[in-house]
Amino acid sequence: MSALSEPASYRPAAHPPTTRRLAADRAGIEEAARVLRAGGLVALPTETVYGLACDATDPVAVARLYAAKGRPSFNPLIAHVPDLDAARRVGHFPAEALALATRFWPGPLTLVVPAKPEATSELARAGHSSVAIRVPAHEVALAVLRAAGRPIAAPSANRSGHVSPTTAEHVLADLDGAIDLILDAGPCAVGIESTILDATVAPPALLRPGGLARAEIERALGARLARHATPRSTADELIAPGMMASHYAPSVPVRLDAREVRPGEALLTYAGARPPGSAHAAAILDLSPGADLIEAAANLFAHLRALDTTGAAGIAVVPLPREGLGEGIRDRLERAAAPR
Ligand code: TXA
Ligand code: MG
Repeated sequence: MSALSEPASYRPAAHPPTTRRLAADRAGIEEAARVLRAGGLVALPTETVYGLACDATDPVAVARLYAAKGRPSFNPLIAHVPDLDAARRVGHFPAEALALATRFWPGPLTLVVPAKPEATSELARAGHSSVAIRVPAHEVALAVLRAAGRPIAAPSANRSGHVSPTTAEHVLADLDGAIDLILDAGPCAVGIESTILDATVAPPALLRPGGLARAEIERALGARLARHATPRSTADELIAPGMMASHYAPSVPVRLDAREVRPGEALLTYAGARPPGSAHAAAILDLSPGADLIEAAANLFAHLRALDTTGAAGIAVVPLPREGLGEGIRDRLERAAAPR
């Protein structure tokens, strides 16, 4: 079919041969919004990682999304909206959630709040009475959200359990042919996913460390965050990402806090560290030669993917600082290293 005779309303092809990749310009943004409104799947850049977006109000679109990711459907999705007004149409904001949203949105913070059940499909919430909401700090994502005019569900655009994508190439490596469109806006600035807080409890509880450091949130709240929320009941149990031990997994074993490089291993290092055995490493990548944890977060998933394709027998990771974004980086690496 020629470009001129494209149908006005979008219908997914039975077997899309490849995923369309568009530049994130005005035409690309409008096309992405059109595909979303018609129930399609679009990989979108955000400041954290690329998300796989669909209409959060459309259960058929959400079901297609779960299938494309190979994600267990009990794991709920984040509803992405362009601003706080739109967020308040999706969930109820307790005082602390409102304060945090005002302070940190747009930005890499996701707030779990009591849901307004009619605003998103139950499948997107995986049956929960709460909903996770985020306003991303990426001009392209915000433009698509505004144009789509409805809450957009967007998990990371990788196959379930794989390393999250921070470039369009990463997305295509996992999902080419399984999704309709990708908007390419280059690499993501933050590089690890948003920090998730359960704001249905007071003070809020940290469900997933991520792109906004705990200390910044605690300073804004004037209170400490709990590490995990206690499940309120077995029927409404919080399924936080931390409960899925093996996640973000490269195909080869990952060994943390390595003080030496063992034969056959590749090295993921930091601040120029070269532990004994480095000279024989299958490959070496440095998360941040200048010891900057923000740069390290931005490089984390791309470096894990790159080392995973070197043919090394495993990936040794040097000890990393734990402050600031170090907590989120450590969380991702622990899951990459977990037994599968
Ligand atoms: O940075 C991010 O947050 C990225 C970008 C694309 O926005 N998205 C992302 O989505 O990381 P995802 O689906 O990979 O991780 C979101 C996690 C889910 O694993 C789920 O456990 C948790 O959020 N979640 C969603 N709704 C929840 C809820 N109602 N209660 C507790 N956890 C929830
Ligand atoms: Mg994910």
